Amino acid sequence: MGVARVVVSLALLAAVSVGQDAISAESTNFTLTADNMSYLFHVDTESGELISDHFGSPVDDFTPAAFVLPWGWHDNLANLRREFPDIGRSDPRLPAIHIQHADGNTVSALLYQSHEVTQGKPVLPGLPATYGNESDVSTLAVRLYDNVSDVSAVLSYSIFPKYNAVARSFSIINNGSSDIVINRAASFSTDFPNLDLDLIEVQGDWSHEFNRVKRRVDYGETTIRSTEGYSSHLSNPFIALMPPSTTESSGEVWGFNLVWTGSFEATTERFSNGFVRVLLGLNSLHTSIKVQPGESFQSPEAVALYSTEGVGGMSRSFHELYKNHLSRSKFTHQTRPILLNSWEGLGFEINQTSLVRLAGEAVELGIQLFVNDDGWFGEKYPRNNDSLGLGDWTPNPQYFPDGLRPYVADVNNFTVLNSSEPLQFGIWVEPEMVNPNSTLYQEHPDWVLHASTHARSLTRNQLVLNVGLPEVQDFIISTVSGLLDSANIQYVKWDNNRAMHELSHPSDEYKYILGLYHVIENLTTRYPDVLWEGCASGGGRFDAGLLHYWPQHWTSDNTDASDRLTIQLGTSLVYPPSAMGCHISKAPNGFNQRNISIEFRGHVAMMCGSFGLELNPEELTEHEAAAIPSIMAEAKRVNPVVISGEFYRLALPDYTPWPATQFVSADGSESVVFAFQQKYTVKPAAPPVKLQGLDPKARYFNDLDNGTYTGATYMNGGLNIQWDRADYQSKMIWLTKQ
Ligand SMILES: *[C@@H]1O[C@H](CO)[C@@H](O)[C@H](O)[C@H]1NC(C)=O
Ligand SMILES: *[C@@H]1O[C@H](CO)[C@@H](O)[C@H](O)[C@H]1NC(C)=O
Ligand SMILES: *[C@@H]1O[C@H](CO)[C@@H](O)[C@H](O)[C@H]1NC(C)=O
Ligand SMILES: *[C@@H]1O[C@H](CO)[C@@H](O)[C@H](O)[C@H]1NC(C)=O
Ligand SMILES: *[C@@H]1O[C@H](CO)[C@@H](O)[C@H](O)[C@H]1NC(C)=O
Ligand SMILES: *[C@@H]1O[C@H](CO)[C@@H](O)[C@H](O)[C@H]1NC(C)=O
Ligand SMILES: *[C@@H]1O[C@H](CO)[C@@H](O)[C@H](O)[C@H]1NC(C)=O
Ligand SMILES: *[C@@H]1O[C@H](CO)[C@@H](O)[C@H](O)[C@H]1NC(C)=O
Ligand SMILES: *[C@@H]1O[C@H](CO)[C@@H](O)[C@H](O)[C@H]1NC(C)=O
Ligand SMILES: *[C@@H]1O[C@H](CO)[C@@H](O)[C@H](O)[C@H]1NC(C)=O
Ligand SMILES: *[C@@H]1O[C@H](CO)[C@@H](O)[C@H](O)[C@H]1NC(C)=O
Ligand SMILES: *[C@@H]1O[C@H](CO)[C@@H](O)[C@H](O)[C@H]1NC(C)=O
Repeated sequence: MGVARVVVSLALLAAVSVGQDAISAESTNFTLTADNMSYLFHVDTESGELISDHFGSPVDDFTPAAFVLPWGWHDNLANLRREFPDIGRSDPRLPAIHIQHADGNTVSALLYQSHEVTQGKPVLPGLPATYGNESDVSTLAVRLYDNVSDVSAVLSYSIFPKYNAVARSFSIINNGSSDIVINRAASFSTDFPNLDLDLIEVQGDWSHEFNRVKRRVDYGETTIRSTEGYSSHLSNPFIALMPPSTTESSGEVWGFNLVWTGSFEATTERFSNGFVRVLLGLNSLHTSIKVQPGESFQSPEAVALYSTEGVGGMSRSFHELYKNHLSRSKFTHQTRPILLNSWEGLGFEINQTSLVRLAGEAVELGIQLFVNDDGWFGEKYPRNNDSLGLGDWTPNPQYFPDGLRPYVADVNNFTVLNSSEPLQFGIWVEPEMVNPNSTLYQEHPDWVLHASTHARSLTRNQLVLNVGLPEVQDFIISTVSGLLDSANIQYVKWDNNRAMHELSHPSDEYKYILGLYHVIENLTTRYPDVLWEGCASGGGRFDAGLLHYWPQHWTSDNTDASDRLTIQLGTSLVYPPSAMGCHISKAPNGFNQRNISIEFRGHVAMMCGSFGLELNPEELTEHEAAAIPSIMAEAKRVNPVVISGEFYRLALPDYTPWPATQFVSADGSESVVFAFQQKYTVKPAAPPVKLQGLDPKARYFNDLDNGTYTGATYMNGGLNIQWDRADYQSKMIWLTKQ
């Protein structure tokens, strides 16, 4: 990938400057320069230690490193801001890298050896990662070496100047003569000075994903993690740090996100001197990774980015970076078909006749893609319910006597309303899973994750295939490609509905995720025209790892529009709304019996890249059926702006009964505001909705009061919305630049 290679050793004191000055190395003082950010660290030339100097708004010079009086219990490394902390040599804080050597000791001294600057960004073999060409990104690789154990580390920093983002990963190369074991591996690590900082993270559960939680970064360590083998519903590999004065739209924010789908760990540790260490990487409970002589270990990548435009500015940088330099799917920049999923209409009660009938009803509503959910497979163990069939991916011959091809042809034979396009067909799979009641499990009981003779704990009656095994990878690749070759399938919903429990070794989890990436890389490369949607009981694997391969992810199994406002706005902290799958489901809602109008449900769902219906058309009320055509038309108008525009969280559902969001189209010519009243009260009055992201001097027409005002008026004065005396009211307001 990289051209212009420059290798510099400690002895060579030449100044090097490439990549439009994005990376400069004055001797071994390294400066990564972005449009509105600098990232500085240097080598202490006497010791070879890497020292952190600055990560924040631009600075021009290296200044003497933070000086801590040599009083207190600790001296030496404990008083330094370290860039890649190892363990065992006077720094008692948590390390980024923790290696156990053959004789049992865990001391490392990874010291500077050389560095190299390249334009562009090398591929991370076998791992999802950000990418870009020479004008988008430059990369600094710093090689460290431990003379005692003959272990080297290569730290890789790739700077994307436009996004104020640094992607970091590292590799460990065992150049010694015995095995080493990596017990802890933080892809990103840095030490902030003694700043007053708050931490934002997301917490939740199934059907309750991505709830924003804020707390103070205090002394000691704060760790959020997943040990599910999932990026998970409970947490997500994302944290943000900010001074307490930062708001949604102003102030400094540092955001951190791991490009990884498995278990993770994110830690802040404030030490006695006030320095704040930040670590983001693999979960150490699932690490213990052995590296043999001559072999290497590659960490996943972490993205760190900086914004002075508040939490919203951080989110927009993540969204743009991920849309342009993470996602590999051609669909990422395309509008998505409006889909209907068969689950709510038919559940497991399916056959070719009932499905084709449902597809016909869907097409009358304006649906463009019909998705056949669970229940279509299994021969000896027909999938009539969730206790059998997973693993046997052949169409149930009772339902589809001639296989899928003629059935899919029947679906394709419908023509999408107001167009000449055929109705598209999509299918649900859960290829990483198996029911004990299946031919696959009878034949290959050793293919599932298990530990010794411990009971194999079931969740939802199913076990997890060990995707770390090459034979399981081959099975999934041939099964899914066989399915895609068997009929005209244009969309796949790839589900995954349980966590990993018994592992034969903690590192099974890491190997599993690498195996999964291998499988998905193969299938997405071979079937680039299939629209892939990730799902893991909702948003259990909504992460940057899978978004590298798949353009969209089901956001939550909870489709209640009020809960969804919290979940979707939480998800948007890191991941773009264009990557979210969101559907209108029936009212009252199956989860909580909330009765929310179809207009409100529609407005919430159309704030996502993939919009659809998850209901039985036969159960629509008269009012709902009458409202559907205009909701479909609105969704089609909004979709291009959701796909390519910028997203603003104007008011958060956690803090106000009047949450609001806004998209601004990529060319700035139009903007759409979604405003909600969740709960009516006599008083107080709704505050004006202050918009963002407009040109203050330009004039915009709005279709709320048909007025034309300047961007400054909308942003500083705001829109005044007259709400009815009722709960769950919503408005969609378009602004058009004059
Ligand atoms: C960021 O940098 C760009 C280019 O240097 C500049 O146009 C823009 O105003 C800066 N934004 C902020 C918030 O400083
Ligand atoms: C590198 O930075 C240090 C301060 O950290 C400074 O004293 C030194 O002069 C710098 N060296 C060069 C070559 O810029
Ligand atoms: C690099 O990619 C950008 C899009 O990210 C494109 O506009 C530009 O032309 C490319 N430059 C080169 C040298 O390929
Ligand atoms: C490591 O070993 C090399 C070669 O023996 C030597 O030049 C270098 O100074 C050593 N580095 C440290 C930090 O001991
Ligand atoms: C260690 O590195 C040297 C020099 O690159 C190489 O010759 C040797 O094979 C390596 N040893 C191992 C165990 O990788
Ligand atoms: C298909 O399913 C429907 C609904 O469950 C049922 O009424 C019908 O008899 C089934 N048809 C066949 C051919 O099995
Ligand atoms: C189809 O066209 C009719 C008549 O122009 C229009 O009312 C309706 O909204 C359109 N529906 C869709 C889904 O495009
Ligand atoms: C699931 O389906 C199987 C096979 O049709 C049937 O024997 C079993 O009773 C069903 N189980 C449940 C819980 O419905
Ligand atoms: C296997 O299927 C039968 C029939 O549905 C069910 O009773 C049993 O619980 C299933 N076994 C497991 C392990 O899921
Ligand atoms: C397609 O649908 C038309 C009616 O709309 C029907 O006449 C025709 O037989 C169908 N073709 C197939 C292949 O099912
Ligand atoms: C995918 O895997 C199949 C089967 O292992 C192999 O033949 C094919 O070359 C692979 N394709 C890609 C694009 O990796
Ligand atoms: C705005 O204009 C539209 C179209 O002419 C009209 O239907 C609507 O009532 C007007 N709204 C207001 C608040 O004047």
